[in-house]
Amino acid sequence: MKTLFAHRGVSALAPENTLSAIKLCHTHGIKWFEFDVAVLKDGTLISHHDDTLDRCTDTSGALSHTTYSQLSKVDAGAWFGDSFVGERIPTLLEVIHCMNDLKLNANIEIKAGILSETESEAFLASITEQIKGIEPTIAVIVSSFNHILLKRFKELNPHIPVGCLFTKENLWEDWKSIVQWCKADYIHPESSGLTKSMVQDFLATGLKVNVWTVNTLDRANELFNWGVNGVFTDIPHLFPSAYKSTTNRY
Ligand code: G3P
Ligand code: MG
Repeated sequence: MKTLFAHRGVSALAPENTLSAIKLCHTHGIKWFEFDVAVLKDGTLISHHDDTLDRCTDTSGALSHTTYSQLSKVDAGAWFGDSFVGERIPTLLEVIHCMNDLKLNANIEIKAGILSETESEAFLASITEQIKGIEPTIAVIVSSFNHILLKRFKELNPHIPVGCLFTKENLWEDWKSIVQWCKADYIHPESSGLTKSMVQDFLATGLKVNVWTVNTLDRANELFNWGVNGVFTDIPHLFPSAYKSTTNRY
């Protein structure tokens, strides 16, 4: 089974991590998307990649200094294109509503920022509570580069599959003990530098393998020929239709 994850939604066609980018999955027949979850100063959970607003909005500032009421004045679409002026950064609850509405599966990536132990616990408790609103027919994978948070998330949510994210720089020989420690079902390695023998080692442990971020069809093809289960891509709309026919669960 070959699974395409629309990375930050269909982020080649709409501003990343927005409802517009997510809704384009439905338009293009893509069943899975990935998005990033971060937390604001007042504890509101939002769909956003960076620790700051600087790169993908009309405003500069740290999420840790921003409240939900301030966010309502922030434009997250004008930087991307005229047709997205007025686009907002969605809350996690708004994304969940969209998932339920359009029957879309999601990889929820937890972005930790710099949080204290108490703040981390509150963040994970809040995610745990809000994702209970996802309809049971919809599949979810939760992932993070922060393996401490991911392990704690899995303790709180043993029934939800989790994936350990690795950059090529932090993928060392200890990957196996990290995924075991997290009780991870998936490993999510970076595409750059990933080899066939590494993929074979992952698969041999019983892990499923989803690779990020794969923005060419030939690299995706190579990875699938090596046995990976899925790829995250900014251009899922350009893949042949056979990749998009994946049923909801795999
Ligand atoms: O979850 C896959 C990928 O999104 C990880 O990297 O930086 O795009 O969140 P990043
Ligand atoms: Mg991500």
